[in-house]
Amino acid sequence: MTKERKSSGGPLGGGASKEETAKVLQWMLAAALLALFAVCLWLFWDIWAARKDLQAFVHQRAVPLGGVSGSLLAELRDLYRQEITLNLILASLILVMGVLLGGYVTYWVRLSGRMRDIQNIDHYILQSITRGVMTVDEKQRITSCNQAFGRILGLSASHCIGRDFASVFDPDSPFRRMVEWALQSAGNMDAEDEIVHQTPGGDEKPLRLTTCALRNEKGRLIGVILLVKDLTSIKALEERLRRQERLAAIGHLTRRILHEVRNPLSAMDLNLQLLQEHLERLGVHDSKAERYLRVVFSELRRLDKVVGDTHHCVTPPPVHLRPVVVQDVLNQVADGLRASFEQGGHRLELDLWPDPLEVAADPDRIKEVVINLLLNALDAVTGRSGRVFLRCRWDQRTNRVVVEVEDNGTGIPWENLSKVFDPYFTTKRRGTGLGLSVVHNIVKQHGGEIHVSSWVNEGTLVVVHLPGPQSSEMASQ
Ligand SMILES: Nc1ncnc2c1ncn2[C@@H]1O[C@H](COP(=O)(O)OP(=O)(O)OP(=O)(O)O)[C@@H](O)[C@H]1O
Ligand SMILES: [Mg+2]
Repeated sequence: MTKERKSSGGPLGGGASKEETAKVLQWMLAAALLALFAVCLWLFWDIWAARKDLQAFVHQRAVPLGGVSGSLLAELRDLYRQEITLNLILASLILVMGVLLGGYVTYWVRLSGRMRDIQNIDHYILQSITRGVMTVDEKQRITSCNQAFGRILGLSASHCIGRDFASVFDPDSPFRRMVEWALQSAGNMDAEDEIVHQTPGGDEKPLRLTTCALRNEKGRLIGVILLVKDLTSIKALEERLRRQERLAAIGHLTRRILHEVRNPLSAMDLNLQLLQEHLERLGVHDSKAERYLRVVFSELRRLDKVVGDTHHCVTPPPVHLRPVVVQDVLNQVADGLRASFEQGGHRLELDLWPDPLEVAADPDRIKEVVINLLLNALDAVTGRSGRVFLRCRWDQRTNRVVVEVEDNGTGIPWENLSKVFDPYFTTKRRGTGLGLSVVHNIVKQHGGEIHVSSWVNEGTLVVVHLPGPQSSEMASQ
């Protein structure tokens, strides 16, 4: 036999009875105050009337009697005193009742606000959930829809409520398929699916859809709940992790290859030089042999650069920070490259902050950054009338020095934008694809950031943020 569980007078039970007692006490207090007030008022009325009568009597008799007797005057004074006392009592009672009434009204207003909140709690919960939530009844009519649902799908949430589900979603849309399936299976099976949704604005969003049965208190199916989760940030994180894993694997492999390649390269270089000297000593002047040797030397240099850049990329050398005026570095780089720009009929324009911007940096590494960015811009404008801007300014809000390189070149297709910092990603016939990867490492070593924006056939803007003089927290590895 099961024992009936007795209430232990927990917070709810105890609280309710206490509340009732308090309410009864409140009513009793109000009634007592009112009764006291009524009695005082009656007494006051009685005394006031008596005093008025006596005053009238004294007033009528005072002159013919030639004066008022002492006892009558004493009685009149007594009545006055009683009247004043009652006046004071009445005023105090009114004050107390006013305070109590004010308190009660405040309490009642607060209570009714809290009651309203409790009544609307399901609405607030629905609107506060960051997942998109939509409920559909058995007749496939949308009964509720929160703002997150509208935001994720690019719909107006209030516009959906009350409408037919079929009028909002296409027949072949996964939303409709899942809801119909959930209703047909009488809500016995909850379902989950991952899709890529195209918003009305043309954006693609990875979404996770979940359906579950909506039942009433008797367990009867009254509709379906459709939950939508935006997976954009999760997918981006996954992609970043995958990229990091890929880069770690590439780095590991590259270090091993570099180790194997460097020594034979130096040996080849040395032996080629010895061969050249030997031929000279023998007095052999063969133009073909000299041309072959030049080609081998030049390819060897190229290979050596690739090895050097790769080494930079996988094991960045430490930066040696010292105070550097950014404008000086930019001017030096621009002077060095101006001839290459002019040769191709392009313009390199400088727009530098008027006051010297001093940062703690490794000037040689910063030069490397700017050279790489300008050479990329030069490659991008080749074959067109190129205009390349090199700018620098101080962002007072973030206390950062901003260096920009902008060109009106080919631009970068959006599918390549996320890959430009990957080592070995190149679209150039003779490119190594290491330039931006090295640039990224150097900027990171200086505690900065780099961003690329690009428009195909319009141009590219690369923005480098370097910590300003006061806030530089540099990774001086
Ligand atoms: N300003 C730019 N305009 C158009 N495309 C660019 C620009 N900067 C970079 N890119 C693209 O990014 C790719 C990677 O650039 P990165 O500097 O890393 O290597 P690379 O220039 O190809 O080779 P390397 O720098 O070794 O000569 C380029 O191949 C190019 O497709
Ligand atoms: Mg490059």
